Amino acid sequence: MSQRSCLSVILAAGEGTRMKSAMPKVLHAIAGLPMVAHVVKAAEAARATGLALVIGHGADEMRKAVQKFAPKAETFVQEKRLGTAHAVLAAREAIAKGYDDILVMFGDTPLIDAAALAAARQKLAEGAAVAVIGFRPPSPTGYGRLIEKGGRLVAIREEKDCSEAEKKIGFCNAGMMAVAGNQALRLLDKVGNNNAKGEFYLTDIVELAGADGLDVVATEASFESALGINNRAELAEAEAIWQARRRRDAMLAGVTLIAPETVYFSHDTEIGADTIVEPHVWFGPGVKIASGAKIHAFSHIEGATIASNCDVGPFARLRPGADLRQKAKVGNFCEVKQATIEEGAKVNHLTYIGDARVGAGANIGAGTITCNYDGFSKFFTDIGEGAFVGSNSALVAPVTIGKGGYIASGSVITESVPDDALAFGRARQKTLPGKGKELRERFASATAAKKRAAE
Ligand code: UD1
Ligand code: CA
Repeated sequence: MSQRSCLSVILAAGEGTRMKSAMPKVLHAIAGLPMVAHVVKAAEAARATGLALVIGHGADEMRKAVQKFAPKAETFVQEKRLGTAHAVLAAREAIAKGYDDILVMFGDTPLIDAAALAAARQKLAEGAAVAVIGFRPPSPTGYGRLIEKGGRLVAIREEKDCSEAEKKIGFCNAGMMAVAGNQALRLLDKVGNNNAKGEFYLTDIVELAGADGLDVVATEASFESALGINNRAELAEAEAIWQARRRRDAMLAGVTLIAPETVYFSHDTEIGADTIVEPHVWFGPGVKIASGAKIHAFSHIEGATIASNCDVGPFARLRPGADLRQKAKVGNFCEVKQATIEEGAKVNHLTYIGDARVGAGANIGAGTITCNYDGFSKFFTDIGEGAFVGSNSALVAPVTIGKGGYIASGSVITESVPDDALAFGRARQKTLPGKGKELRERFASATAAKKRAAE
């Protein structure tokens, strides 16, 4: 089957009014990726060789987004929404190029399983002209019903056009189908709009193909596969299903999740075996974690690379460009951005490291801040191997701390420190014996005088 060419036509012209959003519905994200991009991924996993997106509402925004997640896709605008068959025909030019298989999918059905698509394609390879993906929802209300006779699919009836007997059928149209490329345009062009909604229904091609003596079949997919998103409650439902699957995959791949239901993955999170993730951890996009790391509770991580045996959190924030090398440690209430923490270096408490390198084995004291920004530009801080930065130091970038450099706590470092040097960047302490007591007495008598004057 893999040699057969396949065009995936993804319908995404709908307005999605129930999202109550300025953004087109299919751009709302699941696991940080627009739902229509999940659909594209499934098409690619089912080995689609061409991609056509039918857009309408918010066309400019859609084109821009598609450029990012599917740069090779062609977009077609459906000017008026006259039904699903009409929508597929908006991509006529792409279909006419002559593919073996046409895979029609919906942009708002993000959990579609690639295996279900591949199964439908397999039916075409075996000679069917149309293979419809069916499913059995808990309640069939609102879905098109699959009407079968002797193992053949004879029709799909939309809810509004169903007889009472047909309404009792539990096997429903998931919406997606595979159509033989050499029949697709011919069948679609025959579709009329003589139905309750006055729309051109894609589903009508089932009866049309049957009338021509072509082979039409139904395959079955899971309920989730067909879950269409119409509002934000359903979006959250799909997110929950996606997360549950991803957590399970992670655990089966050797990752320990102590409280899996509290850990949130991104569509692209990579995480190695024997890593332990404690409760309440958020992974934004672009996170790569090797094996044997510990991610402690309440950490927020995005765009970060974490090497093996690193220790992160609790309450750590790793932002894009954080690059932790082996056995590095970033502890509680630390933020790391665009910085490399080299092997075995420690950034343990209440610290901001941004636009910096912390050399191997260096130790960054509590409350250290790399002052990387002057309100206009960002500057780099380079901290050498084995350096020690005392607590509550401000390192004003651009600045370099040499290998083995030693920074006295409370320093404001504005000039570079050579290898193995000790730097104090603070005023010398002055101690005046008895002066504390004297001051206290003076303040007390002044306060008493004020009180008397007020009485
Ligand atoms: C469709 C199916 C129904 C199935 C259900 C599954 C048809 C006629 N009906 O019904 O059998 O059970 O999906 O969810 O196909 N779209 C366009 N342009 C249009 C019309 C639709 O791009 O002119 C897009 C929509 O944005 C959406 C998809 O096609 O992504 C499905 O359209 P929708 O109107 O939601 O179809 P349903 O009535 O749900
Ligand atoms: Ca729908």
